[in-house]
Amino acid sequence: MKAAVLYERRKPLVIEDLDLVAAGPGEVEVELIASGVCHSDLHHVNRDTPTVLPVVLGHEGAGIVKSVGPNVTRVRPGDHVIIAFGSKCGECFYCVRGMPYLCTPASPARPRLSRGGKTINQFLEVATYAERTVVSEKNIVKIRDDAPLAICSLVACGVTTGIGAVVNTAKVEPGSNVVVIGTGGVGLNVVQGARLAGAARIIAVDVLDNKLEFAREMGATHVLNAAKENVIDRVKALTGGYGADYAFEVIGNPKTISQAYESVRKGGVAVVVGVSDENAELTFKPVWMMRQSKTLMGCAYGSSRPQVDFPRIVDLYMEKRIKLDELITRHFALDEINEAFRAMEAGEVARGILDLA
Ligand code: APR
Ligand code: ZN
Ligand code: ZN
Repeated sequence: MKAAVLYERRKPLVIEDLDLVAAGPGEVEVELIASGVCHSDLHHVNRDTPTVLPVVLGHEGAGIVKSVGPNVTRVRPGDHVIIAFGSKCGECFYCVRGMPYLCTPASPARPRLSRGGKTINQFLEVATYAERTVVSEKNIVKIRDDAPLAICSLVACGVTTGIGAVVNTAKVEPGSNVVVIGTGGVGLNVVQGARLAGAARIIAVDVLDNKLEFAREMGATHVLNAAKENVIDRVKALTGGYGADYAFEVIGNPKTISQAYESVRKGGVAVVVGVSDENAELTFKPVWMMRQSKTLMGCAYGSSRPQVDFPRIVDLYMEKRIKLDELITRHFALDEINEAFRAMEAGEVARGILDLA
């Protein structure tokens, strides 16, 4: 089966034929229908990260169950599924406390991909830039048959991370004033999460006007171009001089994290959603934490429980309470993955999606 392999950092991915294991005990083989292209994948191309190469990237996938290994009870061949990324062991310290987004399994997943007998790693145990994948049953979330599967692939990361940051992590109350810094594929979902939560003002901040247009479409009430305007001053002016109740940083940059922290009022909450560089450091004056009683929070995978959150988000979409179609600006074939990365880096797309079927 064909997959996109990263052999060397800062080099294009290579499309190759790989060997995929048959689904073993507790594993599921999925015929992938689509995979969203997330900036987190590109980080592993452009940055030196702990991810071991060679690796098949991709972590925003959906598809149809092709076969199941022994002892699989959750799904059957033909079921429509969204694949949750990362370990989801169900047994560790974090999983038993309802925090599968922090899962720290006792043992790693077995190697499932190879070429010429040499192991190729699966990014985040899912590797969705491929025609097929084999994953643990615990990463599989069955969804309703009438939902458009390709569009629902976005629920595997961007949508759940964005909406989850608002609803699960920050628990934004109706009437709140919210700032979203970075309105790309994930940030746009923070915007629509804030709308869903009943935020009064949703102030979208980006450096690209086309992204701010997307943000309006997703429910932003105000937009600020950080390349042209002073973000802190404008946020204060829009919030009665106080600052926002909540700010979300969805880029992964210490400068914009500081900006998020500064843009909230006394007692406000800033949430870091973006993934910073491994060696990045944040400097700020902690005295303000006490004096202004502010909170700086982290948020992995929208603090989500995929088995609960994915079907809920799909229902919200099917009831037209959230938008997914509008997020997809461009479709690509698997062998156009490097072009999809280029388009994302150039800021041309809200979300790009690989059609894999
Ligand atoms: N100020 C405001 N916006 C900025 C700035 C800045 N200094 N720098 C970049 N941006 C905007 C970009 O213009 C883009 O619209 O941030 C957005 C990032 O969006 P995408 O490239 O689509 O990335 P996305 O997939 O949304 O991921 C964002 O969240 O999950 C993490 O790893 C992911 O760190 C990444 C972040
Ligand atoms: Zn992602
Ligand atoms: Zn676990």
